[in-house]
Amino acid sequence: MKELRGLQFCVRTFGCQMNKHDSERVAGMLEALGAFEVLKPEDADIVVFMTCCVREAADVRLLGQVASLKNLPIRAAAEDGRRGAQRATPAKKRVIAVGGCIGQRDGALLVKQLPHIDVVFGTHTIAHLPQLLAAAYVGEGAQVEVLADSVALAEGIARATDLPTHREQHWHAWLPLMTGCNNFCSYCIVPYVRGREQSRPFEEIVAEAQRLAQEGVLEITLLGQNVNSYGRDLYGKPRFAEALRAVGESGIQRLRFATSHPKDLSAETIAAFAETPTVMPQLHLPVQSGSDAVLKAMNRNYTVAHYRALIDAVREATAAQGREVALSTDIIVGFPGETERDFEGTLELVRAVGYAQAFTFIYSRREGTPAADLADDTPHEVIQERFDRLVKLVQESAYEQNAVELERVLPVLFEGTSKRDAGILTGRSPKNQTVHAALPPGSSAEDFAGTIRDVRITETRTWYLRGDLT
Ligand code: 5AD
Ligand code: SF4
Repeated sequence: MKELRGLQFCVRTFGCQMNKHDSERVAGMLEALGAFEVLKPEDADIVVFMTCCVREAADVRLLGQVASLKNLPIRAAAEDGRRGAQRATPAKKRVIAVGGCIGQRDGALLVKQLPHIDVVFGTHTIAHLPQLLAAAYVGEGAQVEVLADSVALAEGIARATDLPTHREQHWHAWLPLMTGCNNFCSYCIVPYVRGREQSRPFEEIVAEAQRLAQEGVLEITLLGQNVNSYGRDLYGKPRFAEALRAVGESGIQRLRFATSHPKDLSAETIAAFAETPTVMPQLHLPVQSGSDAVLKAMNRNYTVAHYRALIDAVREATAAQGREVALSTDIIVGFPGETERDFEGTLELVRAVGYAQAFTFIYSRREGTPAADLADDTPHEVIQERFDRLVKLVQESAYEQNAVELERVLPVLFEGTSKRDAGILTGRSPKNQTVHAALPPGSSAEDFAGTIRDVRITETRTWYLRGDLT
């Protein structure tokens, strides 16, 4: 497609890891057509927004960023092209594209709201982005293509996983097991914008993992809205435990995955998690609330007692292998009808589990979801006060979980240097803790990025660990 050759593009990503994956595919696809990625929108002929509509905050941020591009001048030539692409002549115009979950949800409405948007694409039409961009660039007016998952499938539009990719970090790859979600938690918009669960064939996933390992990828993150049900739509039963073991043995060094739904976390998966040495001892298990009444209203399909039994089983299985596990979760505060007692149940659960990390959210009403029709009469100040109490408790818990690492030697996968200090290396422990260590004099950060080195921990904080290279 000659229209895009030589153009500079910038991708802005909001939201979850699936969007990060999709953005890498967008970058890979545009580069394969001869365009070049740049880091700043002012240098770009094409700005692509990969958006999130899970909570209102993300929605508002996107609209603000798109609006601010309207009068942003186009710079003559990029100074910081990631691939060093330098263009001699100034660009003629800038094309703005909005994709991801807001694109899927709002479609043509977005162009009405913000007329300087040139392209809207959805979560199932990423493969058509080049044609849409080219048409907009040559002046054919606003281009909108948003299709339901079943229509995109019937029309044979390539899925994101079949597109070329440009990995942000050469040692890490996102590997989607599946797309979509069948759970319909009552607060959540995801099933409406990502469609139903569609698993990828088992052999395809294992072959991809083996190829990535051969290419030098050290760490893979398996992705899905509910990885525990991976395979059910294709094989009649979930095959996530098998996938963990097979990808874990593909030649990579570290395997992570997100996200697990508690109702589908099976004994086989817990065993595979604990027994596969390359599967990192980190489990993200969103609980959402510590009250059975709220869990029921959320349509989560488990109880607090069941959740706690799962946590016990995970701790036991990992301990039997001589390993410790870091647990993390998502929690929503202020779901419609949540009482002080319900909320105390959440605090009690957080105390009992001992999370290493918890992502906490204030409930955000999403139009079109069942919970949007529920009466919501708790005053905002009460919800905010609950939220603050929860955040404080989560921070104490994170601090305690990090404190046990003092004096230990941890293998750290380094990512580069700290944003604030070029003399400090930063990386991740097996439990996914951020670890800082001083860059040895005379060496360069590139020697460390994408390598695993031992670090002796000398200082532990709530959000990070600090140590010395051994
Ligand atoms: N309001 C607040 N938080 C939400 N999440 C999903 N939908 C909403 C909503 N409407 C949170 C859940 C989920 C995480 C990705 O986002 O905790 O696990
Ligand atoms: Fe949303 Fe629930 Fe599906 Fe997660 S499992 S994506 S919270 S509907």
